Amino acid sequence: MKHIRKHVKPYLPLLISSIIFIAIQAYLNLVLPNIMSQIVNVGIQDYSQKIALASGAVAESLKLEQQQYIIITGAKMLCVAIFTGVVTLLIQYINAKMGTGLARDLRNTIFSKIESFSSAEFDKFSTASLITRTTNDVQQVQMMLTMGVRTIVFAPLMGIGGVVMAMKKAPSMAWINALSVIMVIGLIMIVYSLAVPRFKLIQTLIDKLNLVARESLSGLMVVRAFSTQKYEEERFDKASREYKQNNLFVNRIMSLMGPTMTLLQNIVPVVIIWIAAEKIANSQLLVGDMMAYIQYSGNIMGAFMMISGIFVMFPRAMVSVNRISEVLDTENVITEKENPVILPIDKCEVSFNNVSFTYPLGEGEVLKNISFVAKPGQVTAIIGSTGCGKTSLVNLISRFYDVTKGSVKINGIDVRDMSLKNLRDLIGYVPQKSILLSGTIRSNLQSANQEATDVEMEKACEIAQAKEFIERKEEKYDYPISQGGTNVSGGQRQRIAIARAVMKMSPVYIFDDSFSALDFSTDLKLRKALKENLSNATIIIVGQRVASIMDADQIIVMDEGKIVGKGTHKELIKHCEEYQQIAYSQLSKEEV
Ligand code: UTP
Ligand code: MG
Repeated sequence: MKHIRKHVKPYLPLLISSIIFIAIQAYLNLVLPNIMSQIVNVGIQDYSQKIALASGAVAESLKLEQQQYIIITGAKMLCVAIFTGVVTLLIQYINAKMGTGLARDLRNTIFSKIESFSSAEFDKFSTASLITRTTNDVQQVQMMLTMGVRTIVFAPLMGIGGVVMAMKKAPSMAWINALSVIMVIGLIMIVYSLAVPRFKLIQTLIDKLNLVARESLSGLMVVRAFSTQKYEEERFDKASREYKQNNLFVNRIMSLMGPTMTLLQNIVPVVIIWIAAEKIANSQLLVGDMMAYIQYSGNIMGAFMMISGIFVMFPRAMVSVNRISEVLDTENVITEKENPVILPIDKCEVSFNNVSFTYPLGEGEVLKNISFVAKPGQVTAIIGSTGCGKTSLVNLISRFYDVTKGSVKINGIDVRDMSLKNLRDLIGYVPQKSILLSGTIRSNLQSANQEATDVEMEKACEIAQAKEFIERKEEKYDYPISQGGTNVSGGQRQRIAIARAVMKMSPVYIFDDSFSALDFSTDLKLRKALKENLSNATIIIVGQRVASIMDADQIIVMDEGKIVGKGTHKELIKHCEEYQQIAYSQLSKEEV
């Protein structure tokens, strides 16, 4: 709740003015029946009696007076009604402004919080759930605020005011109101106990629906290729059906309320008229008072009805508030020290010192006792079978995860002591799965370095062997890139991602299996260009192909999370069994 409170604060003036207007609205609503009863009691009943008793000219002047009285009081009613309309409009406007504004702020806060998440936190929430939390859950909170404020202020005023006014008009009929209120409360309780338990379920089902839809839509190609449309359809259908059933249940129950309330609201006036008729006949009650009484009893029931709405909405919104708080309260695992060290963007030596690592949600060590040094001006290659921990290892340098034991240092400074921005400024990173953002080639490249000139950009693309295919395109650097970069080939995507990293002109480069989609000649040209142009940089290349790493200054051979060999190609081919196996499986005797 504290997050919501914090977000409401800027809207306090709006909130207060809304409350004031709502109070005015309630007051006007209570005044109206009273004026109406005057028209009936005085304007019709009293005058008619007087006119009946008078005669001739007196009667004529009384008739005129009666007309005037009714017109003036009617005009009063009209004014009140118009004023009520204006106030209602104002309330709607203020509430809409407040609600949408708050929702926007809240969404922004959640989004920036999510942006600060490291992989560890992303593993905790699913992407689908994070999306629902930023959209649907915020919407629930927005609804609660706008409707809630209105109800919390308006309903009690209306209810209590209604009771007071009704008591004034006809105290002997108070039991009718008491009875109707008890019936309304009973109805609310039944509905409440049936519907509320389902709300939490519904929110999780929305997550699930979102997840299934996202998965099968983003993996559409795979679904088609394996002809699993039917399976996916069934999976979606199941999730959707479950959601539908629960929603239907809740809405059916809720919609029962409407007709039942209407029934009550119509029965009560009949009862009132029935009882009041006798009193009127005995001159214990005035007709106008009875009419006002009917309206007040309607107001009282309406107030309870509104409160019941809140009772239903509130638990639902609370579920959403909690889900939002879960995100906002998540403590980032990757945090900065208070006075972080800032290293100059200069030569960097990356060292691993006895590093062990376990994934936050995983079991067992993925990396064990890793120690090596990657020197500036050198290429350090990491090779090993799939799943041996290469990606996990390089992810520790950029602090996508933190080490469990040991330390990763840059120029002798533990990466955990550095400012995150500084650390990432030092590193040009090409992930194993190259991801481009929607936009153009230019916007993607510039995301790494806003200040880079066109010449620098072209140079980076030249090094990454991307220049040629980009310049063959009609739009060149303004070629549109769709979400995820799916409208360029895998190899092209990799090369744009490499160019993006090179654009950074950073002292450390990490290429995680980044040449896998390139043919041998492009691979060779690229490595040559890297060596020539980034001669002072610390280059770490993760690779699967011996051919692409054999000329590295240092090769690290990994197996099941451990380093089993370290050295140059020549040294390893002599002494390291695992390296020999990999090398001989890929190269001919002469090539080795
Ligand atoms: P890696 O992803 O580090 O292996 O996973 P790798 O060497 O780079 O493999 P390739 O060549 O790209 O295919 C190492 C181990 O860590 C686990 C995996 O199950 C794997 O056994 N792992 C990986 C996790 O537990 N959680 C993750 O988020 C990622
Ligand atoms: Mg990998």
